[in-house]
Amino acid sequence: MASRRLLITGGAGFIGANFTHDWLRRHPHDRVVVLDALTYAGNRRSLEALELLDEFRFVHADINETERVVALLQQERLDTIVHFAAESHVDRSIHGPEAFVRSNVLGTLSLLQAARSVWLDGEDVPPTHRFHHVSTDEVYGSLGPEDPAFTESTLYRPNSPYAASKAGSDHLVRAYHHTYGLQVTTSNCSNNYGPYQFPEKLIPLMMVHLLEGKPLPVYGDGSNVRDWLHVDDHCAGIAAVLEGGRPGETYNIGGGNEWRNLELVEALCELVDAEFGADPELRSRFPQAAPATGGSCRDQITFVTDRPGHDQRYAIDDSKLAGELGFEPAWSFREGLAATLRWYLDNEAWWRAVMDGSYRDWVAPQYET
Ligand code: NAD
Ligand code: DAU
Repeated sequence: MASRRLLITGGAGFIGANFTHDWLRRHPHDRVVVLDALTYAGNRRSLEALELLDEFRFVHADINETERVVALLQQERLDTIVHFAAESHVDRSIHGPEAFVRSNVLGTLSLLQAARSVWLDGEDVPPTHRFHHVSTDEVYGSLGPEDPAFTESTLYRPNSPYAASKAGSDHLVRAYHHTYGLQVTTSNCSNNYGPYQFPEKLIPLMMVHLLEGKPLPVYGDGSNVRDWLHVDDHCAGIAAVLEGGRPGETYNIGGGNEWRNLELVEALCELVDAEFGADPELRSRFPQAAPATGGSCRDQITFVTDRPGHDQRYAIDDSKLAGELGFEPAWSFREGLAATLRWYLDNEAWWRAVMDGSYRDWVAPQYET
């Protein structure tokens, strides 16, 4: 495949950082520019290992700064946008929806305007271009226990302000293809887990609370179902769409890994108990954890007030991606969870800095001048 020059928005966030690492590993000669506003969820330290690569550049900017994006697309001669930047946490959207409309709806419109002006109406139009929009299965709403999984033709029924803002962004991306001919693709993915995930989301929050001996807050009765995918598989699915997906199309990513929240939290408890059994040093590193004092992690499970409007079940039918592009996830859930726990154990400094806020003071290494 010909080399690309990519703009990755939101590349200091969880999935964007994993995607940036993964892309540069597989395409070491591509130009990669990460643009990120470094909101509370942006952590430049997640890109530390890439900072000194010639092919990599970090730009601290907001996607709503349309003119800056235009200048960047022109100066760097970028031909591909992979758009991750968004407010992404449902609970925060319930308390403050405005930021979600600003970044997810208006921010996506701003990027589309910039892409159109440079790639369709500019003076030095690249021979090919692609705008890939990273979206979520939450736009489809909630499933009952026996409902078939979401397909690409499931009606949009977003229930949270987050989901509604992502639905709005999906519609704008679609409209820019139909109205102006922008070469777009969209992927709608299920719940991700893996390295560099901010510990406000279920799996990293539970892991950190388990290690610190804090309560494990399960919303409602814990019966809600999510379809979990390792972030590496999400990144590989996006890469497959970029490389072989048809412009104007949407692709679901995920599938086949539905878990009730309570069962998942119990599985995490077993995993942590087993890890402490296998590695006695963990007891001195994490003396507050239940297994450090002979207790069981399950004792930390605490049922708390449910999330308002809590979607009951998500499930992805990924047969379009599998059939058209031959893509299937590589990680098993058991192995993926164990590897993720290992990552949080091995990268304690990363999550401690997030918890105490010092990640915001981190300064990227620079070449001597
Ligand atoms: P995240 O919250 O970890 O990271 C979001 C990143 O976007 C942060 O680095 C933040 O600083 C940046 N950002 C936010 N607003 C910005 C703005 N206005 N301008 C520039 N940068 C801005 O999110 P994530 O979990 O990595 O999700 C990334 C994308 O994937 C989102 O679009 C989300 O909707 C989608 N998605 C997430 C999941 C999941 O399980 N996490 C699943 C499916 C889809
Ligand atoms: O489905 C894809 C979506 O998955 C993404 O679009 C979102 O960006 C991402 O945040 C995620 O949304 P969820 O709301 O499903 O993820 P979260 O990790 O917040 O919660 C997962 C489930 O666990 C959900 O049913 C709520 C529940 N939960 C969550 C937290 C944080 C708890 O029971 N306790 C908790 O403390």
